[in-house]
Amino acid sequence: MVSAEQIQRLLEEAKQVRLQAYAPYSGYQVGAALLTKSGRIYGGCNIENASYGAAICAERVAVVRAIAAGETDFVAMAVVADSPEPGSPCGICRQFLAEFAPELPLIMANLDGKVRKGSLDEYLPYAFNKDYFRDEEAN
Ligand code: THU
Repeated sequence: MVSAEQIQRLLEEAKQVRLQAYAPYSGYQVGAALLTKSGRIYGGCNIENASYGAAICAERVAVVRAIAAGETDFVAMAVVADSPEPGSPCGICRQFLAEFAPELPLIMANLDGKVRKGSLDEYLPYAFNKDYFRDEEAN
């Protein structure tokens, strides 16, 4: 369960870190905030590149920051963007998140305060994961 207070904290953090986005090409700034079991929140913003394909989304930045800090137990993630609808994680980010938290609660919002709540398994059903490998040793 994610409390109303945790959701509020995550949304605030995502909104704040969104301001660090480096998005000169798309002009679309995204902020993500990932709450881990330790109670810490890892923020991420999107970082684009002149070589467009090298861009990285806010969600993955938050995840790599948490992992690099030694945290792999994820509780919930908030995503905020200035879009008509609440910001929605792209397919690559859904896949990336599914590696660590296939049922991660997601709180998505836009700057107008429109919020949508869901969970990763709703957004990425039948996610590809290590269970698909036959060779047990590969896991
Ligand atoms: N982007 C994110 O950071 N997260 C999302 O949820 C969707 C897309 C970024 C990637 C790129 O920098 C810009 O938004 C436009 O696609």
